[in-house]
Amino acid sequence: MKMMRNLPDALLALPHRRDVPFSRLTTLGVGGICRWLFEPVSEAQAQVFVRACVREGLPWRTLGGGSNLVVLGDVTMPVLRLRFPQELRRDGLELQAPASHGHIRLSAAAADMGLSGLEYASGIPGSVGGAMHMNAGAYGRELVDVLARYRFLTGDGDLVEKAPEPGEFGYRWSVLGAGRVALGLTVRLAAGDPARIRAQVQDYRRKRGTSQPLGKRNAGCIFKNPPGQSAGRLIDQAGLKGLRVGDAQVSLDHGNFLVNHGAATPTQFAELMATVRAKVKATHGIDLVPEVEIWEPQKDDPFVLDPITG
Ligand code: EPU
Repeated sequence: MKMMRNLPDALLALPHRRDVPFSRLTTLGVGGICRWLFEPVSEAQAQVFVRACVREGLPWRTLGGGSNLVVLGDVTMPVLRLRFPQELRRDGLELQAPASHGHIRLSAAAADMGLSGLEYASGIPGSVGGAMHMNAGAYGRELVDVLARYRFLTGDGDLVEKAPEPGEFGYRWSVLGAGRVALGLTVRLAAGDPARIRAQVQDYRRKRGTSQPLGKRNAGCIFKNPPGQSAGRLIDQAGLKGLRVGDAQVSLDHGNFLVNHGAATPTQFAELMATVRAKVKATHGIDLVPEVEIWEPQKDDPFVLDPITG
């Protein structure tokens, strides 16, 4: 029998919304309902959220821009999404941004200021916090290359600001994944010529526009590139482009993009992902590993919240 729990008052006092569909919270648009969405507007409120969850032994999740996330059902545990003021601070060649700032907007702002170093990020959607979490990258560059300092809450809700150290950020991975909450960052950029920066951004945009299905709902690349390989090429060579399960389909433009034509269900999407993995394994003998974050349904979650009293 599932145990029902009410949420503590400390959480309910924070800005929150009920029953928001993941179709509105993710770019892919697959998933069920987010039962509890908490949207702190300050670091102090985010800290209250984490501390209250720790005190109550409540599991919770963090959502950023939802552009690298596949949700496979309803989520009943509290979900944290930061809603800090959208302000950037510049100090010489350094730019400071809150985690809830748009990642593409940060790249565009740097370009407008004539600061070079974030051109690679000009087409990577999502939030700055998500980019920190995943060490987002493209075209051989990644966030840690320009990261001067980063701020986060530990799993206990303590605030830390530090410079990145070796081993903390890797290929589409960072230490922030382990129950920590990214709060903001400071990037150190280089003085650049705005026209050259703009030209580089245009070039990346053109490349992305010709190789990726940007007009369809997607979550970016679904699988990590195995060392020295391209997951997209492996999927393509296995003859899987166009493979469709309901409204979920392997993109015809890029094999590592699985698109949602509008009404793809979690079951259809999960089935397509599993089939692609199995066929790539059969064809190439390679196990693809998801690059996207996947939220599974919480069938065994003891903290299912009573929808009436919860
Ligand atoms: N290719 C194919 N068929 C395909 C897709 C790709 O033959 O269906 C070939 C391309 O022709 C190219 C090679 O595979 O020769 C590599 O393709 P691409 O340049 O598109 O790069 P990728 O390795 O597939 C990576 C990142 C992307 C990032 C691009 C550009 C991963 C998993 N993917 O893709 O990141 O935008 O490089 O730097 O690391 C993401 O993280 O969500 C993402 C899309």
